[in-house]
This record gives sequence, structure tokens and C-alpha cells, in this order.
Amino acid sequence: MALDAVDLLGIPTPIFGFSHCRDVVVAVSKAGGLGVYGAGLHSDEQIEIDLTWIEEQLDGAPYGIDLLMPSKYVGSEDGGLTSEQYRAAIPPEVTTFLDDMMVRYDVPKMEGGDVVDEHAAIGGQRYSAKQSERILEIAFAHHPKLLVSALGTPPVETIEAAHKKGMLVAALAGRVKHAKRHVAAGVDIIISQSYEAGGHTGEVGGMVLTPLIVDAVAPVPVLAAGGIADGRQMAAALALGARGVWCGTVWLTTVESDLLPVVKRKIIDAAAEDTVRSRAMTGKPSRLLKGAWTDEWARPDTPDPLPNPLHSVAIGPYVTRIERAAASADTSPQHGAGALAPTAAGQVVGLMSSETSCRQLVIEMMEGCIEAMSSLQSVLERDSSAG
Ligand SMILES: Cc1cc2nc3c(=O)[nH]c(=O)nc-3n(C[C@H](O)[C@H](O)[C@H](O)COP(=O)(O)O)c2cc1C
Repeated sequence: MALDAVDLLGIPTPIFGFSHCRDVVVAVSKAGGLGVYGAGLHSDEQIEIDLTWIEEQLDGAPYGIDLLMPSKYVGSEDGGLTSEQYRAAIPPEVTTFLDDMMVRYDVPKMEGGDVVDEHAAIGGQRYSAKQSERILEIAFAHHPKLLVSALGTPPVETIEAAHKKGMLVAALAGRVKHAKRHVAAGVDIIISQSYEAGGHTGEVGGMVLTPLIVDAVAPVPVLAAGGIADGRQMAAALALGARGVWCGTVWLTTVESDLLPVVKRKIIDAAAEDTVRSRAMTGKPSRLLKGAWTDEWARPDTPDPLPNPLHSVAIGPYVTRIERAAASADTSPQHGAGALAPTAAGQVVGLMSSETSCRQLVIEMMEGCIEAMSSLQSVLERDSSAG
């Protein structure tokens, strides 16, 4: 059989681990999967430092980098606005609501006042194609094997430049038409991101979306993303035609993850129905853990989330402030900053009941997948012998 783009990555197990945390990226790649570093929330300087560190740790083993390259956003017709222009466009009632929220939840001001850090927390996402250029330069100066576009079809020039550097290019798609657009532009691997997933999601569940995208883009390989945390789900994804699995939520409660302890606890305690598709994080619908933050934005008497990226710009300094206040290990998940501290998370939170390590997860997923496949075989044999 001819090698496909996933084979070319040279990884022993087809498990892709998306994370903003460099330790998770390294741990997943070391365990035989492909760790993919989410650059979206980090400053250019941090990305540079992290990629260098990842490469030192991995000593030639492959990893990937994921960038937010949104094609449609406020100001996209003009190639994006400056961060000052975005900040000036935030309606005063949104700032008043956020200030009032900080008072009601008793979130202290940061020392030295509320620093408006260009790359702080969620506000660090790049607002335009222009602002993504520097990250691309950094990525191209390093050696990730896979370049991933989180939000939209990457420009053809970017795909060609990545190919020249020997990288493969992947892109997330929540709809068949998006997947087809990616392939027409030259993307090598499609990540079929279903409704259950943490982060930006579409409206179609994985059981339907995966085979639809597999058929629509064949022979381009597809990774199934959304709702995959164990070997049974991995086996199901492979049975639907996926070439591998791409997971995000499951790594959040690993020992390697730098997520706040209070948020890890909220995830471990959460049931599958405790997530919501909301515009409260980025202004685009994304699946988040339900909590005080999503409740506040959903109330009829509070402002609607702003469009992307204005929303991120507006909430960035406040999320930083909440996270700093919630950082200590004894923060209560029920009150104040601990209750507010937001995170993206998928419905698989319902399957996550303890802290574990990335290596353990990769091993369990592979073993569980093999076991699920062989037990399917025995179900079929039993049925045919009974008939
Ligand atoms: C906390 C969190 C942040 C995410 N941020 C991004 C991102 O910046 N870029 C991206 O391509 N996907 C992002 N995603 C989506 C993941 O790449 C992945 O597709 C998704 O988590 C898969 O579904 P699962 O959450 O059920 O595993 C994020 C997911 C989570 C849980």
C-alpha cells in the first residue's frame, strides 16, 4: 500500500496530542504519538523559547505546531486592525460588565494594575494574517514535522513554503465544505473536528462527520477529533475511516499539563453534560467547561459576547487576572476566581476521573483500541456461529 501523509510523519502510534503546554507536547511525542504545540496563546518570544526547548527534549523525534490562521474576523477585509484599534472598538458596556464581574467575584487587581499584555491569556491570539507571519517565521526556523491551521484554510503560499521546508500541513474542519477547501489548497491531512470536541466546534457529531469527511477528501488521510479519550473511541474512529485520532481535552488533566489545579479539579469532577458550546471565550462558538464564566455571559441581562477577535481582546486582561487569582493549589472551584476560571473542554470530560500521565494515556489508548478491535471480531464470530 502506498504511504500516506500520516505514514510520512514516522510516528509509531497514530495518536495526535494537541496542547498549549510544551511539556504535554514532548510527553506525547516521546510516548510514540505526535505532540502538537498550540502556538495561539503564546507570545512570539515564548514560542521561540518553547520550540527550542521541545527540540532539545525530543532529540529529533517529530512534533507539530498549530497556529490560529482565521480567514474571517473583524477587520479581515483590511488585513486586520492593530491591537489599539481593536481595543478602541470594545463597547463600554462590556468593560463595565467585566469590571463589575471582578468585584462580584472578589477577583483582586493584579499588582501594578491590570497590565494590558498584548499576549496575555486568551488576548494573545493573533488578530490577523499579518500578525501570524512572525510565528510562521519562527516555525520555519525550527523543525516541526507538521504545521496545523486551527481556523481556516491556510494560504497556498504558506502551504508551499511548509512543503519546501519538508513539513506536512494539516487543517481542522468542522464541515465537509471546509475539508474540501483545505484539500483544494494543498493541505496534506484533514482533522475532522466534531461537535463533541473542546475548542472551536461545528454542529455535526463525530459519528456522522468523520465518515462524511473521509469520503469527501479520499485519498487524503483524515484524523478524527472530538470525543476521543480512550481505546474504544479510538477503535470507533478508525472504523469510521480515520487514519488516526487527534485529542485535546484528555491531556488537560495529565501531570504534565500546566492547567491551573482548580481547573483540573473542575474537569475531573465534571460530567459529560457539563460543557457548553459558547461564544464566551473567543467570540466564535467553542466548547467550554460550564461554570460561572459561561453562565455570566449567557445571562439575558449581560452583554452578548463580541465578534472574534474583539471578544478575546476585551477579556484577555480579565482572564489573566482571574487565572493569577486562582493559581494557588487551595483555590475553591465553587467561589470567586476559582469558579470563574474558564477553559475550553470537550464532552469527554465525563470520562476523565483522575490525574494521569501522557505516556499512560497513550499506552492505555493503544491497548484499549487493540482490545476493542479484537472483541468486535469475537462478537461477529459469535453471531455468525449462532446464526
Ligand atoms: C483547552 C483547549 C484549547 C484548544 N485550543 C485550540 C487551538 O488553539 N488550536 C486548535 O487547532 N485547536 C484547539 N483546540 C481543539 C483541539 O485541537 C482538538 O481538536 C479538540 O480538543 C479535540 O476534541 P477533544 O477535546 O474532544 O479531544 C483546543 C481544545 C482544548 C480542549
